[in-house]
Amino acid sequence: MPNTPGQMIFLVALVLTVCALTSRVDCATAGTEWCYHLPTCSDTNWETIAPKHCNGSRQSPININTTAAKTDENLTEFTFTNFSSTTAQQTLENTGKTVKVTFASGVQISGGGLSEAYNSLQFHLHWGNGPSIPGSEHTVDGKRYPMELHIVNLKSSLNGNLTQALADSTSLAALGFFIEEMSGNATGEPASWKTLTSYLANITNKGQTFALPSGISLDDLLVGVNRAKYYRYLGSLTTPACNEVVVWTVFKEPIKVSKDLIDLFSNTVQVNGSSSPLMTNVFREIQPDQPVTTQAESSASTTCCSLGLVLLSLALWKYL
Ligand SMILES: *[C@@H]1O[C@H](CO)[C@@H](O)[C@H](O)[C@H]1NC(C)=O
Ligand SMILES: *[C@@H]1O[C@H](CO)[C@@H](O)[C@H](O)[C@H]1NC(C)=O
Ligand SMILES: *[C@@H]1O[C@H](CO)[C@@H](O)[C@H](O)[C@H]1NC(C)=O
Ligand SMILES: *[C@@H]1O[C@H](CO)[C@@H](O)[C@H](O)[C@H]1NC(C)=O
Ligand SMILES: *[C@@H]1O[C@H](CO)[C@@H](O)[C@H](O)[C@H]1NC(C)=O
Ligand SMILES: *[C@@H]1O[C@H](CO)[C@@H](O)[C@H](O)[C@H]1NC(C)=O
Ligand SMILES: *[C@@H]1O[C@H](CO)[C@@H](O)[C@H](O)[C@H]1NC(C)=O
Ligand SMILES: *[C@@H]1O[C@H](CO)[C@@H](O)[C@H](O)[C@H]1NC(C)=O
Ligand SMILES: [Zn+2]
Repeated sequence: MPNTPGQMIFLVALVLTVCALTSRVDCATAGTEWCYHLPTCSDTNWETIAPKHCNGSRQSPININTTAAKTDENLTEFTFTNFSSTTAQQTLENTGKTVKVTFASGVQISGGGLSEAYNSLQFHLHWGNGPSIPGSEHTVDGKRYPMELHIVNLKSSLNGNLTQALADSTSLAALGFFIEEMSGNATGEPASWKTLTSYLANITNKGQTFALPSGISLDDLLVGVNRAKYYRYLGSLTTPACNEVVVWTVFKEPIKVSKDLIDLFSNTVQVNGSSSPLMTNVFREIQPDQPVTTQAESSASTTCCSLGLVLLSLALWKYL
């Protein structure tokens, strides 16, 4: 590979944090770091803090109007490479704005109507304040879920070139997964989320990192979600500088996590040092609508193929 993971992490850190290259000057003159809650730097001020993009015309997140979503035959199934790897998730970090997990190289997505393969770099989460104050970024017909997980992927042909990435309107592909409270009185479930959240105690303060032991895969964390069902639209980063370079995929089915584990996010990690506030309500408000498409009903093809397999095994059985 022409680029190292280090270069790619550097790129994404640049793009995803306070000032992307193109708006460094604006940031310096404004002299304000963005935030979620202080009156001077919360999301209503982002278009002043980072005017170049946060005030743009394809901003994220949005409310998805399911009735208005048009079917697009090109939205095929994804191929998820190394999502089953139990060693790909390397570092857990408190960024002061979110909790982020960085991947080793070799994790990749393709298909899904994307123009080419995208390298998966990291995931991070958005949440409210426990399940009772939901904090997903996207909403669906007005419904806000307790949490949302974002997997960030970079177009592989860019080879980590920041200049090209900031100029390409589809340089990043973000996968959004809703997290919903598991029904019943379950605690500590699913096991993958129990393991992940057990490490939050190791990153309570901003800037702390934790080297993740091997054990849980992305497939484990995305448990129970039919990844053939999703919405698609063109949008932006949901944090300044809000660059309009993101192909969004929002999956229809939520990951179900027990209430006690959802609560751990808003009860454990803090926005700065040990006497700072807990990290709560870390999501951007809804932005103006965008045209949304959805995959063609693929339950038919799934039924066809599993039925096909059944018929094939029946046919073989005759000869045994
Ligand atoms: C954002 O754009 C709108 C319309 O294009 C304009 O009225 C407004 O002044 C802009 N805000 C900032 C902070 O540039
Ligand atoms: C959702 O889309 C439908 C169909 O386009 C439209 O009639 C309806 O008003 C929309 N609802 C909202 C809340 O925008
Ligand atoms: C599907 O892809 C084909 C070939 O790239 C393109 O011509 C067509 O416009 C696409 N359809 C939609 C609905 O975007
Ligand atoms: C998946 O990861 C393994 C080890 O982490 C690596 O050897 C392999 O090359 C990766 N697969 C792809 C397709 O990159
Ligand atoms: C990045 O791409 C730009 C524009 O294509 C090119 O001028 C520049 O040399 C590239 N930078 C690197 C480090 O390859
Ligand atoms: C949950 O716990 C409450 C109180 O212990 C009990 O009344 C209720 O039946 C339980 N619900 C389920 C679905 O187990
Ligand atoms: C992680 O935190 C737990 C609970 O505070 C502690 O017992 C453990 O030693 C920590 N692990 C590391 C590697 O810091
Ligand atoms: C965050 O904590 C550091 C170290 O304790 C301190 O120097 C800094 O001023 C704090 N920042 C804010 C915004 O409170
Ligand atoms: Zn995000």
